[in-house]
This record gives sequence, structure tokens and C-alpha cells, in this order.
Amino acid sequence: MPTAQSETREQDGIIGRPIPRVDGPLKVSGTATYTSDHNFPGMLYAVPVPSTVAKGTIAKLDTSAAEKMPGVRAVFHRGNIGHFFRVPPNADFSVVIDERRPPFEDDTIRYYGQYVAVAVAESFEQAQAAADAVNVTYREETPDVRTKLELPNKPTIGSQRGDADASFSSAPFKVDQTYVTPVETHNPIELHATVAVWDGSSFTLYESTQAVKNQQLAMSAMLGIPPENVRVVSRFLGSGFGGKLWPWTHCVLAAAASRNLNRPVKLVVSRKMMFQAVGHRPLTQQRIRLGATANGKLVSTQHDSLNHSSILDDYEEGCSEATPHLYQCPNLRVTNGIVHLNVGTPTSMRGPGAVPGLFALESAMDELAVKLNMDPVELRLRNDTQIDEGLNLPFTSRHLQECLTVGAEKFGWHQRTAGIGSMRKDGLILGWGVAAATWIANRLDCEASIDLKADGSVRVACGTQDIGTGTYTMLAQIVAEALGIDPDKIEVVLGDSALPTGPLSGGSMVTASLVPAVLEAAKNASQKVQFAATTAGPFSGQSADNLLFSNGKIHRKDQTSANGVPYEQVLQAANIDRVSGSGRSQGDFTDLLGLTKPKLSSHSFGAQFTEVTWQPEIARLRVNRVLTVIDAGRIINPRTGRNQIEGAVVMGIGMALFEHTIYDDQNHGAPINSNLADYVVTTNADAPEIDVVFLDYPDTHLNALGARGIGEIGLAGVAPAIASAVYHATGIRVRELPIRIENLIG
Ligand code: MOS
Repeated sequence: MPTAQSETREQDGIIGRPIPRVDGPLKVSGTATYTSDHNFPGMLYAVPVPSTVAKGTIAKLDTSAAEKMPGVRAVFHRGNIGHFFRVPPNADFSVVIDERRPPFEDDTIRYYGQYVAVAVAESFEQAQAAADAVNVTYREETPDVRTKLELPNKPTIGSQRGDADASFSSAPFKVDQTYVTPVETHNPIELHATVAVWDGSSFTLYESTQAVKNQQLAMSAMLGIPPENVRVVSRFLGSGFGGKLWPWTHCVLAAAASRNLNRPVKLVVSRKMMFQAVGHRPLTQQRIRLGATANGKLVSTQHDSLNHSSILDDYEEGCSEATPHLYQCPNLRVTNGIVHLNVGTPTSMRGPGAVPGLFALESAMDELAVKLNMDPVELRLRNDTQIDEGLNLPFTSRHLQECLTVGAEKFGWHQRTAGIGSMRKDGLILGWGVAAATWIANRLDCEASIDLKADGSVRVACGTQDIGTGTYTMLAQIVAEALGIDPDKIEVVLGDSALPTGPLSGGSMVTASLVPAVLEAAKNASQKVQFAATTAGPFSGQSADNLLFSNGKIHRKDQTSANGVPYEQVLQAANIDRVSGSGRSQGDFTDLLGLTKPKLSSHSFGAQFTEVTWQPEIARLRVNRVLTVIDAGRIINPRTGRNQIEGAVVMGIGMALFEHTIYDDQNHGAPINSNLADYVVTTNADAPEIDVVFLDYPDTHLNALGARGIGEIGLAGVAPAIASAVYHATGIRVRELPIRIENLIG
């Protein structure tokens, strides 16, 4: 029997402890079920037919040969699949979809890879062969897949204060440059997939989705059936990076095929199709104008960004999201514009807006530091602010200064010499770069339930999902601490639209959103055990007000939990199988959309320090070392947290040096490097020495535990810090990503 003290020691501080992932054993043993692992008797396989032109119309679609092939059950197209509806537009983010046109809505082709038919057969190979045998004739037109963007009309003003033009004209030090970030394609290791099961009136849809609840509502809208007849399940994901936030056209194709044939249908999007019809980070072109005084105070900031979108959808990347609040500056104007091209619809990709936006802004800050002959850390410190001047509100908790100073100290920044190529180590030229990072910190609406069971186990359920980030583990830790129960006894159930409505896994909002709802559910569940205790057992007949639940036990208020009775014994004595407590909290995400008036500005911050090595003799550039300091509130689990930042840093190296989706503007407008051999992502061999430091300032304005999210902040600032390090090593300023060897050997 442990003493009260050892109990306390054991259970104290489960939050903040680097426990291994609770779902780790399922993943490493191959028993975690991803979408395409779901198999059902009589299941058919669907393979879409993608268009081979990027602009035009379908002149003739001949399915006759395909239909006669072995195992083929149907070839669906516009003429025979049935009707799909559009998701109604809404301003409140309640049902979201980026590609609004349902598949097969008309015969117009607007991007390469747009689905024109779908073959369904007994085996995957038969379905693929049939899809290949569908004969489509197009009236092809010349697609517009340009990479230099020009706006046909006026851009929209995102934020404005003071007189940005006049103050820029009169500023003694100026930077006026344009920065370009390319199309990047999300390449989570798990492909997009749907397994659709129609039972005559309802769908169960196994989806690889970052938002089971949104998926349920959007699919219900598109399929024209009530939401309660659609259940979406997504237990495990091999990540998404934003590409799986909203449904794409293949999802309804699989559902309709299942309904039409009354058989379960599996559709797995191929790697090639991942580059065509399931979103991408759009091309951005950003002009930055900075004006400063001789002592480095910003007097004017202008950020004019353009991004491409598809022909029908107004996807706005929002590159200037962070610009109005990152630095103090009396005069500012940021604008956004969309250019519609013959490309698939873009979507959010890790840190949408701010991440490409900070490449431009932070590169320009580095250029300004060079002009001022000032240390780039010092320039940022001089322009720090405790007021979000964009919203004219104080920050909930902002420690950018400390990120920069702690980072500089750990990195050894004081040893830096500013001259180009002036630093050497082991015969290599070193380049050092720095950039600031910031990302939104918000909450979404959330409901959660907690069951305390007579067998001593606990079940916590929420209709959110774990996209690989650690939500299962983090939830187990929060509940363990709230109830004083060992995390091993806690079963976390996620990834099902039938559960209490939880947040989408996006915008780094899950952790902060879950905390209040889960703490309330824990409190309600434990109170129910107190009431149960009054009906039987040692506390029978006592008032529930005189009892307490702590460390997993019911005890009298005037005694410690050492004198208490484990809650499961209380429930057993009362012959109660389980008590259930629910919690519900409102989000503040609508503040960000401008629908309500916020009182504070909440963001995470960070600083990125990078070291590159450069060997001009063989034109070899490597990112050697990255140190990231993150100010993201209280860290629930430093192990999964560090893992998020490390992954983001690795992705940032890809953004800086490798990732680039290339559209064929000479022929049919296809994304031509649509495979993992030609689309280069960072590998283990490219990974640098990574050091992660978390400042631990709980942001209790956001929730009682002070936790923010950390899924995206780690990517912010990596690319500009690398580009600045490359400049420091080589003297070449690359303003168009990715940085290629060709840029450096001029
Ligand atoms: Mo993130 S791009 O909001 O999944």
C-alpha cells in the first residue's frame, strides 16, 4: 500500500513528463488501423480516372471497353453516378471545403488530374486496368499555369495603420524586394483514402481526415442525406499537414459507388494523384517594403502578397497574417490578392500564410540588418513589442525577446562575424542565420466525455483525432493529472464523428481546445462518484458535499486521500458500472475570423538559429545545425512536443532547399514531378543536428493549464533563417525558394 506521499510524488506532474506515446505499441506492432487497413466482405475497389489536360472540355467519354473487362462492376461518370450537391458557403467556419465544385458537376476541365470517371471492380488491379481503359477525348485549350503572378484587379487590404507610403519614402534605410515561394505538395506518408460502407440508409465512412466532424457534415451536404446518417471514422493517420483538413472529390466518389452498388468500396488516392486533386500550398509572390531609421527602428512596413488559386475557388494563403503583429511599426499596410490558374484547389499546409509570409518578412529583415550593418538579432530585439499593433491589443503572453536571447546564447551567436564567408570550420565555410517565428494560438469549440468505470479503468472520448502529433498521449496525461490516476488505466477514444464533437486537427488548436472541456468532464465525472459513494459502502448516508475525489479515491474532506477508498470500489459497492461526466467549452477561433471582438491577442513565438556549411569547390551546401527556441505556453509532453518541432525543422529544410511542385507549362499543365523520386523531400541524410528549447510560460488566458499548440510554430522561420545563413556563407541572396545549387554557382 503506497503512502499518501509516494502516491502524490508518483501522480504529481504527469503533465510536463515526457511519457512515451500511449499509441506507440499499436503503431510499431502494425496493429493500428489506418483508413486503408479497413476491409469488409464483398468490398470493391475504386480507381478514379484523372483528366490528362488542364483546360478544356470532355468531347467524348467512352467506357464501353472498360465495362466489359474482368471483375468490373461499374464505371461511373457524370451521366450515371447520381447527384452531388455543393456545400453551402458559410462565414462561420462551421462546414468547410476548399474545392467547392463536386466531382463530375460539368464537362469542363479546369486542372490536370480532375476526375472524369471512376472504375469499380472486384480487385484493385482490375479497377486500375479498367480506369486505364476508359477512353476520353478532350477539346483541349491552352492552360494557364504561369509562375509569375499579376493581379487583374485591386488587391484587398488586410491591415493598415499610419501612412505606409509617406513613411517609406522618407525612411533613410529601405528594403524593397519580392520573394517567391513555390507550390509545395503535402506528402504525408499515408495516402488519402476512403473506405465507404453503405447499409441501405446510412454511410460509415473510414476516412483519412484531420476533421471527422467537418467530414461528416460536408459529406452529408454533398451526398444529400442527414448528418446522423453519416458516420466518419479516422482512428489513426499517417499525418496530413493540412492536406486532410477538408474532404476532396474522391471522398464522395467512393461513397456514391458504395451506395450505387450496395457494396463496401475502398478508394486509395495514388501518390501521383496526391499532386493533383487533394490540395497543395499555393505559389506565393510577396513584395516587402521596409523602411527604418539609422538605429534600426522600423518606420514603415508593407507586405503585398499574391497567391495562385484554382479557377473556381478563392483560396487565400494570407501570407501577411503575422506581419501586423510581429514587430512594432507605426506605419503599415498589408494586401492580398488571388490569381486564378488551371491548377487544383490549394489548401492549408502546415502554417498556412505565416510560414511562406515569414520567409518574405524575415528575409527582408535580414536584408535590412545588412543595410544597417546591424546584428540581425539586435535588429529584431529593437523592434519587439508587447502590443499587437494590428489589433491594438496586448498579447496574452509573448516572449519573443527571450527566444532570441536564449537562442543566441545557446547557439554561440556572439562568435559570429558578419563578413560574407568569414567563418570557417574544418575547411568549410560556415553561414549563420536567424529568424523570428510566430503562429496563432486559438481554441475551437470542444465537447468531451469521461467515464469512470467499476473495473478501475477510465475512458475519455472526444470527436477529434490524432494525426500523429500525440493527441492520444496528451489527453491521457491531462486526464491522469486531473483525476490523479495512472495514465496506463486511461483509454483514450478519438477519431469518430459519433463521439462528442471535438475540434479539427488544424491550426495547432487541438491541445488548447481540449483542456477546458476535458477538465470540466473530469470534474463532473468525479462528482458523480461522490454522489454514488453516498448510496453504499463506507460513506453511505454521508453528504456528497463532505466528500472529495482526489488521487483516484473518494475520501472525507477533512481527511487525505490516504484514508480514502479507490473510486472503483465505491462504484462496485453501489453496483454502478460507470459514471459519465461531460464537458464543453467554447472556442475563440471566431475572434480570428473577425466575427467576435477579442480582448487579447494570442500567439506563439519562437526563434530559429541555423548553420549551413558551404563548399564552393564542389558546390555542396548542407544545413548543419538548427536551434529552435519555442514560446508556446506550457508543454504537456516534452517528448512528443520536441518531436513536433524536430519534424517541422526537417520540413523547413525541405521548404528552403528541396520542395517544389513543377507544372508543365509547355504541354498539358500537369504537375510533372508527381512522385517521391522527383519531388524531393528532406531525408535522414539531410537532417542536421537539431536542438529544441521550450520556454515554459503557461498561457493561462488560453486555458487553465496554459497550453498552446505546437504543430506548426516549429516550421515558421526555418526557411528564412536558412536563406540568411546561405547569404552569410556565399553572399548570394536567394529570394525564390527552393534555394538551388544553380543559384549559388551563378
Ligand atoms: Mo494545419 S495546415 O492547420 O493542418
